Amino acid sequence: MKKMTISSIKKAKDERLLTMITAYDALFAKLLEDSADIILVGDSLNMSFNGKADTLSTSLEQMIYHTNAVCNGAKDTFVICDMPFGTYNNEKQALKNAIKVYQESPADAIKIEGGKDKEKLVKFLTDNGIAVCGHIGLLPQSVRAEGGYKVRGKTPHDIEELIKDAQAIENAGAFCIVVEGVKAEAADLITKAVKVPVIGIGAGSGVDGQVLVFSDMLGLFEEFTPKFVKKYIDGASIVKDAVATYKNEVESKIFPAKEHTY
Ligand code: KIV
Repeated sequence: MKKMTISSIKKAKDERLLTMITAYDALFAKLLEDSADIILVGDSLNMSFNGKADTLSTSLEQMIYHTNAVCNGAKDTFVICDMPFGTYNNEKQALKNAIKVYQESPADAIKIEGGKDKEKLVKFLTDNGIAVCGHIGLLPQSVRAEGGYKVRGKTPHDIEELIKDAQAIENAGAFCIVVEGVKAEAADLITKAVKVPVIGIGAGSGVDGQVLVFSDMLGLFEEFTPKFVKKYIDGASIVKDAVATYKNEVESKIFPAKEHTY
């Protein structure tokens, strides 16, 4: 598949639905490359890869390390690096850290959580040559401040606020917007209110594309399964069965066989 660009991603809004998926390493990034339009190196890696309860303790250095690994594996795919919590609290800090991502990895863009409150900051970044993907709705980096993960867009007032968030981020120069954990009706209205693609996760089917965390959709993450996740394979069982068979064959001397032996 031809590598997407900012302009082909924007153009896709009128042409076709976009498939975004997370990856954290070269091995999986290479496996996803044939089908993914965009790979997101999400700070969700802190949970599914690092075993933490939320994304908040991810460091910029970790994100850069994993972004490099993903780019090594998926050289022909548009890659977005998530900016972790606490790395874009003001314009100066955000630009310094976004430049660090660009200088120390081949990431094509960064992602930032927030709506109207981040409009000026996103404009500052885009004015300074940084490609920004927005992220509105349920914001995982606000989980402690909000006291949990709360679905958005349940009232007309909240829907209005979400539309203002999306328009603010679009006006600031973002080339696409992730909308997470919002009622489908709200996501439909947000999608119609902006010209850039809206990529949904837990936002129904009326958006311009979908994003899933790879370890969720491959059934590898067993701790919990959010309602919006579809497991395309039961990866955990496949891996466990394979390792149990390996153990069995080691113990019974079936492995290594003649063909595995020098
Ligand atoms: O960190 C992540 O994987 C994300 C997706 C859930 C959109 O931000």
